[in-house]
Amino acid sequence: MESSDSERSAERPGISRRRLLGGAAGTLAAIPILHETLPHQGLHGQLASAAEKEGHKRANGARSGTAHRGSAHSGPVGRVDPRANGFDPQLILRDFDRGKLVREGRRTVREFEIVAEDKEIEVAPGVKFAAWTYNGRVPGPTLRATEGEHLRINFVNGSKHPHTMHFHGIHPARMDGVPQVAPGNIEPGGSFTYEFDAEPFGLHHYHCHTSPLASHIAKGLYGTFIVDPQRDRPQADEMVMVMSGFDTNFDRANEVYVVNGVAFAYHDEPIRVKRGELVRIYLVNILEFDLINSFHLHANFFDYYPTGTKLQPRDFTDTVILGQGERGILEVRFPFAGRFMFHAHVSEFADLGWMGFFEVED
Ligand code: CU
Ligand code: CU
Repeated sequence: MESSDSERSAERPGISRRRLLGGAAGTLAAIPILHETLPHQGLHGQLASAAEKEGHKRANGARSGTAHRGSAHSGPVGRVDPRANGFDPQLILRDFDRGKLVREGRRTVREFEIVAEDKEIEVAPGVKFAAWTYNGRVPGPTLRATEGEHLRINFVNGSKHPHTMHFHGIHPARMDGVPQVAPGNIEPGGSFTYEFDAEPFGLHHYHCHTSPLASHIAKGLYGTFIVDPQRDRPQADEMVMVMSGFDTNFDRANEVYVVNGVAFAYHDEPIRVKRGELVRIYLVNILEFDLINSFHLHANFFDYYPTGTKLQPRDFTDTVILGQGERGILEVRFPFAGRFMFHAHVSEFADLGWMGFFEVED
């Protein structure tokens, strides 16, 4: 049933899987009760198009009966407890793992430790998700090195499933982390050391590449990989935003959209920045099942460096569109103090969790 739905959507571009699923009466029972628990009341007032879309869904009856019954439009229902999850989007934002430097003869090696682990996490208030994680968090740690350094990533698979680590960047085939090339999948209990040089400089990422690939990514096995240029970028308040989603009912469509693992994390607790200070955002899109994602900043414009591989910005804009695997660096100075929204300009994603605020302070 599910596979035939996705096949059909693949054959008919322009018709979303969600629309197809929503239109099939037989699948209603499988729609989760997510909307009952998401604190997105009030957002509709701010996002006219999203509101319109919700109204449309209710009007055509597609998901109204189950998805919107007793919906959260009536009030907030708490927050995700970072202690229960073992990670906190507020900390993930500015948390860079630089590993440790090991001296070996005449060369220095930068070493990282990564453990794959099965773990239930809460991705929106009351919405639990059986995730697969790197180091117990989604997204995995933001690994950071400098161009030209020799890197060693000690990977241990503590999960019940085979996994790999596939890095974007330039490296030998054996270090590419795909099942088809030795060492291939790393079986449960197994380990492997990925070793390569940090190149090129820019904003990259890593993810599991075991088949079925979509599932291994969607379950949470991804993270950011930053290679700094040898000549540092200008001093800035730096942060990482990993855009992804969660398919909570296994229909190969997302029910929750997030930045850094938890829906509405920066809506409920805005990101504090200083007026006039340079803010640098490392933005990664690893969203599975949806063709595009986007980032839109209100009332401000940013310089945009696609993939971060050049030191000159390509665009000066307020919105960027990213396919899966695309990423880029945003640089912005906020001229005004106050609260400024940022969100996916795909309204539905914003409505389902991909929405936040900057609190710009003097
Ligand atoms: Cu995997
Ligand atoms: Cu990739």
